[in-house]
Amino acid sequence: MKFDYTISELFAGVGGFRLGFERASKNWETVYANQWEPGKSKQHAYDCYIENIKNNGFVKTKGISTHEETKRIHNTDIAEHADKASYYIPDHTVLVGGFPCQDYSVARTQADGIAGKKGVLFWQIDKIIAEKQPPFVLLENVDRLLKSPSKQRGRDFGVMLKSFEKRGYGVEWRMINAADYGYPQKRRRVFIFAYHKDTHYYQSMKHFDGENILHSNGYFQSQFPIQEESSNRHQPLSTTLHDDIVELSDNFNFRFRNSGVMIDGEVYSEEVLPKKPKKQTTLGDILEQAVTDEKYYLGEKLDDWEYMKGPKKIDRVTSEGYKYQYAEGGMAFPDHLDYPGRTILTSESSKSRSTHVVRDPETGRLRLLTPIECERMNGFPDDWTNTGMPHKFRYFCMGNALVVDLVEKMAKELKRIVDSEKKMQEKEQSKQNLSLFDYEEKDTKVI
Ligand SMILES: C[S@@+](CC[C@H](N)C(=O)[O-])C[C@H]1O[C@@H](n2cnc3c(N)ncnc32)[C@H](O)[C@@H]1O
Repeated sequence: MKFDYTISELFAGVGGFRLGFERASKNWETVYANQWEPGKSKQHAYDCYIENIKNNGFVKTKGISTHEETKRIHNTDIAEHADKASYYIPDHTVLVGGFPCQDYSVARTQADGIAGKKGVLFWQIDKIIAEKQPPFVLLENVDRLLKSPSKQRGRDFGVMLKSFEKRGYGVEWRMINAADYGYPQKRRRVFIFAYHKDTHYYQSMKHFDGENILHSNGYFQSQFPIQEESSNRHQPLSTTLHDDIVELSDNFNFRFRNSGVMIDGEVYSEEVLPKKPKKQTTLGDILEQAVTDEKYYLGEKLDDWEYMKGPKKIDRVTSEGYKYQYAEGGMAFPDHLDYPGRTILTSESSKSRSTHVVRDPETGRLRLLTPIECERMNGFPDDWTNTGMPHKFRYFCMGNALVVDLVEKMAKELKRIVDSEKKMQEKEQSKQNLSLFDYEEKDTKVI
């Protein structure tokens, strides 16, 4: 297994993973990235990624031209590359990507093969992993993944864990709310770190029990410290994954906690509690000054907004004719400036309940967030998406993106892990050279 500081970025969007890795260390180099917005003739996220290579938003890779660098970024359906991964995707040490939560169930096919549902992007990742066998994989998904689907709790994540096991990986996961670690957005995402069994990392993790991994020796705990005691609302749980993935897909039911580990099919999961951050950045802290553009301001008539944000009960009828009452509570209107903001969705800036509305500290008037403020909530540099895309797509891209600061921390830890893999490999190599030398000496004597 070869270790260096190369990454491949799938579902790259506007490059949040790459940016986080580059901030963690100058050593990381993105050798391949892929971003394609299905069904769209204008590829705004891809264009933004390329523009940030050209304008040095990303760190320039030594030894290659900007043109060569842009050729590493592919604007194709990942399915096309996953089918010929050895041709399209260069070797890399870490595979990264954020992808949607979909139906991961599997079924037996007529030819007694096994197949997941069409169009499910995880199966493209799985193909790439099978072909490329990267030593490490770091993925991001919405927190719902741990519970889906509602009729068979935990099935999708169980299938995902089993797939990793079949490919020869151990997995550690943690649901992280960026605000819990001091950042200005309550964005909860599950991060999945997988390590190949040929790594020293895997071999060392095998010696520890689940609790030890989550609290002391695992991947997440050093950068995302947790309290010693886990939540007393949910007890830790363990299970063994069924050997047959179809059997597992049909029958698996498990209440995954917010963190856990799977090695050799043995799962341990625990509801961990984050340690309080030393400093909390709030929505108020990231607001721009002197926002004068009238397009951000709400105007005098607020009835629609008040209704959307307010508590309500609505009578509804299902498609089967069943009557029920839909109820939702009221929410802060405007949003509190002394707390972190809520999650930015792709619809941010549209007239909807989930869109942030703030009272501008200078004008005292109600307004929407600016694209720069959304970029700040995700830890991107100001104007990262100001690369020629329409205004509303800047919000869309931030709704899709991740909190770069979290990735930076994870990439720092990965750098340390890869450093240690390299050292171990060098030691083994010099031991081998020594014994070879020994052998040659004996040989010489015989002659
Ligand atoms: C959750 S977003 C990831 C955003 C990214 N982490 C960032 O920082 O911007 C998923 C991305 O996958 C892209 N995508 C969806 N289907 C795809 C496909 N079949 N092939 C390649 N990319 C795809 C979407 O356009 C979207 O930008």
